[in-house]
Amino acid sequence: MGDDKLTLFLSADEIHQLNVQLGKTITQTCQKNGIESLLCVVTLKGAIFFAADLIRHIPIPLKIDFIRLSSYGAGTSSSGTVRVVKDLETSIEGQHVLILDEIVDSGRTIAFLIEKVSNLAPKSVRVATLLSKPSRREVPVQIDFCGKEIDDTFVVGYGLDYNERYRELKDIYSVVT
Ligand code: IMP
Ligand code: MG
Repeated sequence: MGDDKLTLFLSADEIHQLNVQLGKTITQTCQKNGIESLLCVVTLKGAIFFAADLIRHIPIPLKIDFIRLSSYGAGTSSSGTVRVVKDLETSIEGQHVLILDEIVDSGRTIAFLIEKVSNLAPKSVRVATLLSKPSRREVPVQIDFCGKEIDDTFVVGYGLDYNERYRELKDIYSVVT
């Protein structure tokens, strides 16, 4: 701890551009599909910065709810099972749901969340993520909106943590531990 080597990976400005573009694409998709309001399901804790920035580029009435899922123990590899640590508080029934996650890695977390939400009678379910690591996928998942696909690198900052550290950084860094 404290000796991690961080290398700049995506600057705050590049992240901003990705959010602007994602916001536009999501808005256009909603307009094309006659979606007039959204329920954004945000995964705690990592996606809070992404969600806060992204939704301000989606000029459509929306509600926000949070869920905390856990599949990672300490460190950089998944433990394999996903469990709900803090559940949703808003009714999903009849809503157009947009799931917001900051990064999709093995796909287990998002697959679990898509299934959970889909079982609660939403009108539609879509997924937006800032980053995705396709080469790490263990469970196939459809990601409707992806900011950027990246190689198999562990990244921190802008909500992303390593053992709960670095979430507050404005830029995203790759970390060698
Ligand atoms: P998955 O279930 O393996 O797709 O993991 C998804 C979750 O693991 C993400 O929402 C993050 O919270 C965490 N995660 C995956 N890759 C990284 C990373 O490179 N840095 C920080 N957290 C990560
Ligand atoms: Mg997450």
